[in-house]
Order: sequence, then structure tokens, then C-alpha cells
Amino acid sequence: MRKLTYFIACSLDGFIGDEHGDGTAMLRFLDEEYFDFLKAEFAETLPTHVRRQLGLDHLENRRFDTVIQGRASYEVALKEGITSPFAHLREYVASRTLGTSPDPHVEIVDGDLTGRVRELKAEDGGLDIFLCGGSQVAGALLDEIDELVIKTYPIVYGTGMPMFGTGLDIKEFTLDSVRTFGNGALVRTYHRKR
Ligand SMILES: NC(=O)c1ccc[n+]([C@@H]2O[C@H](COP(=O)([O-])OP(=O)(O)OC[C@H]3O[C@@H](n4cnc5c(N)ncnc54)[C@H](OP(=O)(O)O)[C@@H]3O)[C@@H](O)[C@H]2O)c1
Repeated sequence: MRKLTYFIACSLDGFIGDEHGDGTAMLRFLDEEYFDFLKAEFAETLPTHVRRQLGLDHLENRRFDTVIQGRASYEVALKEGITSPFAHLREYVASRTLGTSPDPHVEIVDGDLTGRVRELKAEDGGLDIFLCGGSQVAGALLDEIDELVIKTYPIVYGTGMPMFGTGLDIKEFTLDSVRTFGNGALVRTYHRKR
């Protein structure tokens, strides 16, 4: 089975951005030590145009070969004219309103999202699936998440967009590792306790 991994940046108080999801306040923590870690361990999670700017677009995928995101997250790139933000991965966008995909490389999932994710997880071979967010789609897929990689930055929002846009739905996870960084960022990895 391929794992579904929610790889997400959040504040100390568990928000992935302000109430509109804007997480630019967290960008200040992308210093050299932290960015070197991201490039070494999670290069696939960087958008294709960023990889190109950093000279990383030749790298083979090691951890993920597929990305899933919600329409609102996808639109962040779309507004910049980028129709395939993760061209180095198989791209899926959950949306019941987008209709035709703006890019042949991007498949729109407009029906049974959980069913499509289960099919992807059940495929033979391949790498894991990067659940990019945002909050709504992570909430819709909470029960399918096998792994959490939570990048926590030493910042408090006070209010904002939660990691999971769902109602009370308690799930238990087991801690696998914690990485700490000089700038106060933490990267914690958990697997789902089933
Ligand atoms: N901090 C981080 O690491 C991080 C990572 C990713 C995103 N973000 C932020 O998160 C924000 C967006 O999050 P969000 O919660 O507002 O939106 P989202 O989860 O990205 O997208 C929501 C949309 O996904 C579609 N959707 C949701 N559930 C579905 C289902 N079961 N089946 C089919 N389609 C479904 C719907 O699209 P339709 O309305 O078209 O049907 C829904 O409006 C952005 O601002 C982004 O910057 C932050």
C-alpha cells in the first residue's frame, strides 16, 4: 500500500495560515539550515518552478510521486498562471466546480474523493502520496491519512485556518521522529495508529 502523507506547515497554535489560509508569515523561517533539510529530504514537495529556480529539477522523486490538493490550494498557483504546480508528480485536484482541468497533467477529482484516494493507495509499486492541503481536503481525507509530517514554526497566529477543516473527529497518531532546527522550527513525523 502506498501511504497518504499530509505534509503541512503550521504555527505553534496549529494554524496553516491566517483565516484565508495565507501562510506567508511562516516564510521567514526558510533559512539556510532549514531549507537545506527540505531540499535533501522533501524536494518533491517544492513546486516545480521553485525546483527549477534552485537547480533541483533534475532530481528523481524519492519519497512521493503523486500530489493531491484542494481547489483553493491549487488556485494559489493558478492565479499566478501556473496550471501544473507539481509537474514532477502525478497531480490530482479535488473540486466539484472547476469542471475541465486547466492542464492535461492535472486530473480533477469531482466525485468520490475518498474512493479515488483509496484506488491510488492500492496501486502496485510507486512512491507515496503527498497530501498538500488545504484544510478542507485534509478534513475530508482525515480517515485516509497514514502519516503526518508537521512543520511547526515558532509563531502564534491567534486565529486562522486549522490543519483539518472538519468537526470533532478524534484520531490517534504515534510519534516516529522529531527534527529540531536552530531557528526554532520542528518537523515531527507521526503514523496513524489503527
Ligand atoms: N500551510 C501549508 O502548508 C498549506 C498547504 C496547503 C495549502 N495551504 C493553504 O490552504 C488554503 C486553502 O485551504 P482550504 O481549506 O480553503 O481549501 P482546499 O482544501 O485547498 O480546497 C477546498 C476545495 O476542495 C474541494 N473539495 C473539498 N472536499 C472535497 C471532496 N470531498 N470532493 C471533491 N472536492 C472537494 C472543493 O472545491 P470546489 O469548491 O471547487 O468543489 C473545496 O472548495 C490556501 O490559502 C493555501 O495557501 C497551506
